[in-house]
Amino acid sequence: MHDSKSNHTGPDDQKSAQPVDAGSTFVPVDPFEIVVFGGTGDLARRKLIPSLYHRFCDGQIPAASRIIGASRSKLSRSEYLLMIREAYESFNPDETLVDSQWNEFCNLVDYAPIDVTSDKGWDILGDKLDGAEKLIRVFYLAMPPALFSNICQGLKTAGLAHKTSRVVLEKPLGHDFKSADEINEAVGKVFSEKRIYRIDHFLGKETVQNLLVLRFGNVLLEPLWDKNSIEHIEITVAEDIGAGGRGSYYDKSGALRDMVQNHLLQLLCLTMMEAPGSTTADDLRLEKIKVLRALAPIDASNVKEQTVRGQYVKGKVKNEAVPDYLTDVEVEESDTETYIAIHAKVDNWRWAGVPIYIRTGKRMSARRSEIIVQFKPVPHSIFGPNIKVNPNKLVIRLQPDEAVNLWMEIKEPGAGGLRLKTLPLNLSYADNFTVRYPDAYERLLMDVVRGNLSLFMRRDEVEAAWVWCDGILNAWKEVNQSVSYYPSGSDGPSAADRMLEGQNDIWSGLE
Ligand code: BG6
Repeated sequence: MHDSKSNHTGPDDQKSAQPVDAGSTFVPVDPFEIVVFGGTGDLARRKLIPSLYHRFCDGQIPAASRIIGASRSKLSRSEYLLMIREAYESFNPDETLVDSQWNEFCNLVDYAPIDVTSDKGWDILGDKLDGAEKLIRVFYLAMPPALFSNICQGLKTAGLAHKTSRVVLEKPLGHDFKSADEINEAVGKVFSEKRIYRIDHFLGKETVQNLLVLRFGNVLLEPLWDKNSIEHIEITVAEDIGAGGRGSYYDKSGALRDMVQNHLLQLLCLTMMEAPGSTTADDLRLEKIKVLRALAPIDASNVKEQTVRGQYVKGKVKNEAVPDYLTDVEVEESDTETYIAIHAKVDNWRWAGVPIYIRTGKRMSARRSEIIVQFKPVPHSIFGPNIKVNPNKLVIRLQPDEAVNLWMEIKEPGAGGLRLKTLPLNLSYADNFTVRYPDAYERLLMDVVRGNLSLFMRRDEVEAAWVWCDGILNAWKEVNQSVSYYPSGSDGPSAADRMLEGQNDIWSGLE
């Protein structure tokens, strides 16, 4: 799974308490050309171009490669270079650009003004691509999905999509099953399934990939990883930022489509799937889709008990006053959810009866993504009724302060009677590694060039996720389930607490 050389530390190394330099070794990829449609957009400026720059500086991208920003704006190449430099500097304030390195990187970069809804201008793009077709060719569609079909047809008509070229589709892939199916059909007419890279950037995060290593690189967890030992699982992706700046997209989308259909369901799959035979794309995706298909449907009969929709109102985040959602997205009224909590169930032998609580929200008290596996209590306490024995808990912190903590009971030393203390076995990334944290897009972009589909979603996987989410969306409409309000800077609406009270559970705090 790793693109750096093995960094295995044997038992002798474990004596050292010093952080290990993770020693990334960047194996250069073959020269490639990438066309970024939406090249002046937020994603390209904030993430894609900086990621390519970082990997260029790391020596992974050969100088014969080409990066072509494409968008409707009539910019010259030098204006585009200025735009991406300004963006880099404003989004990466802690990093100092080294002029010589940046200039070398810019030698790879070009710009093609093109309106993808028109049949003109494709020749300008064609002239910038390698006529000999020797370079690996990648088309990155960082644009609204409604345009994917136009772009693919444009590429086909202009003869730019050759046999080995590949296409990257940014999320959201549609807004329901039907629209996703239509997009997949349209893209499939130009690119075969093995050339389609449906991206979910959460899969590019180091700690998300670590879920596979944690579960399948250790023998300890697997025997306990089921309904017999696990009480419930909680998956949280909390953000402290609001929806401002992308209101026109967000207000039509909401948290279920923006976060659950993709990021949270991917986390759920990696946490709950059976062991795949290997890390190949086919093996991994096969196991993930089984989980998606085993998700118990949520419909009008149970949606009120199993889901909570929320929307933030004004409040304070980290002591700073912030406005309400309506002000943020500049609309007069809206019933779009910026928070969602779901009590999900996976109906199979391994997970029957285990509640899966998932929640995500904007403008919450803290930014925190984590998976908590709550184990059952010991079957019988030998310490008598007056000593509380807390059940074990595995906390996998994905971001920030990346860590894995296994909370255990331990005897507090000293006289005065037996006292138990709950303490974590703490595997903190910061304490153990000094590697630069790559942005999730870096790894994924290089995987597209290498032709590795493991961390991308197959068509049926995306569609299975939509089927489950459509059930919830339709049920909300049917029962008229509106949002509950929560103050910015809180842990979400109280209705979400009540949902868990019904199960005798509580959400973990975020602070
Ligand atoms: C995106 C969502 O996919 O993920 C955003 O559209 C969200 O709404 C973002 O803020 C979160 O990603 P990260 O990497 O910042 O945790």
